Amino acid sequence: MTNFDTIINRKGTGCFKYDGLQMMYQKEELLPLWVADMDFAVSEAIQRALAKRLQHPIFGYNFRTSDFSAAIEHWQKSQYDWDISAYKIVTTPSLMTALAICVLSLTDQGDKILIQTPVYPPFHAIVKEHSRQLLKNPLINKDGKYEIDWEDFAEKAAQAKLFVLCNPHNPVGKVFSPAELQRMSEICTQNDVLIFSDEIHADIVYPPLKHHSIASIQSSGVITGVSPAKSFNLAGLATAIMIIKDEALFQKVNELNNSMHTFMGNTFGITALIAAYTESADWLKALKAYLQENRDLLANYLAKELPRVKMSPCEGTYLAWLDFRDYALSDEELMSVMRDQAGLALNAGNTFGDEGSGFMRLNFACPRSVLQKALAKIKAAMETV
Ligand SMILES: Cc1ncc(COP(=O)(O)O)c(C=O)c1O
Repeated sequence: MTNFDTIINRKGTGCFKYDGLQMMYQKEELLPLWVADMDFAVSEAIQRALAKRLQHPIFGYNFRTSDFSAAIEHWQKSQYDWDISAYKIVTTPSLMTALAICVLSLTDQGDKILIQTPVYPPFHAIVKEHSRQLLKNPLINKDGKYEIDWEDFAEKAAQAKLFVLCNPHNPVGKVFSPAELQRMSEICTQNDVLIFSDEIHADIVYPPLKHHSIASIQSSGVITGVSPAKSFNLAGLATAIMIIKDEALFQKVNELNNSMHTFMGNTFGITALIAAYTESADWLKALKAYLQENRDLLANYLAKELPRVKMSPCEGTYLAWLDFRDYALSDEELMSVMRDQAGLALNAGNTFGDEGSGFMRLNFACPRSVLQKALAKIKAAMETV
């Protein structure tokens, strides 16, 4: 079983998190707790499956055999008791490709698309880059815990063509409850709003909470985006999927995916997905236990040593949403304290929307000793403010 305490040097592998530091932060020697991937080796089952595939020295065109969809069905059923045997699967290189395909195939220029801010920056960018209009339903921060502004949601849904849900939510760490999903789903149905549900973080939900797909509540009009990229650390293998029930919706999305040739599969991505979903459930369990301890260590450290920094309850994802507003620093000053004083690369909160001003996102999917080092650096830096 993977030892999550092991520090693996990723520098020089062309990974964004380490090798992109100079480009993004104009500094190379930073402790990087930004990009949402993990500093852990993938499961042994995935390593074995990839090594086996590598032994065959031809990497020509492939298609996805029935093992691929069977693995996805098995995962959804065994982890979430969601039976998708009657659903269609559309494969794309990434979930953001999937979102772009849905925006292009299901909406027209000028149409309004609803998102819940602060949220993952490409949600904003994809809508704007394709000349659609952004409608924002800002989540309400109640003492660090985020809630839906239902009145505003209903008002915006009445104007929207598509709602892009992020569940679990990046960056605020919220896991939407069945009751919340039900209510969102009812409002969307009443207003003929389609739903793209980004569930890329679904496998990282901490007990006692459980992940529920909005499509398991209302299957019609929903495109569910999932992938093993986050939970099994496979983002570089470019394999994401959309799960769709309605035939008409599937036809539209599939047609554009085919005409863009974004359906093409990656040999290693296919192999890794199958090994993740059929042989790596125990590894995921161990990972989640480790991440939960990191999360708790982080929350306890802040409460004790840095009580002016408030961490939102992280119900899912390995991303902590930290509120530094008590220090009354500008976003530039806060970034400078983290980068130049603490020597850390964190994500600036305002990149997730205006509501994120004064916040930072910290990725705690790293060996515990690295997290401890980072926390000591934050404490020392904040003492200079
Ligand atoms: C909510 C969310 N969706 C999608 C992605 C990216 O997925 P992909 O690389 O498959 O586009 C991320 C990565 O951080 C994410 O947090």
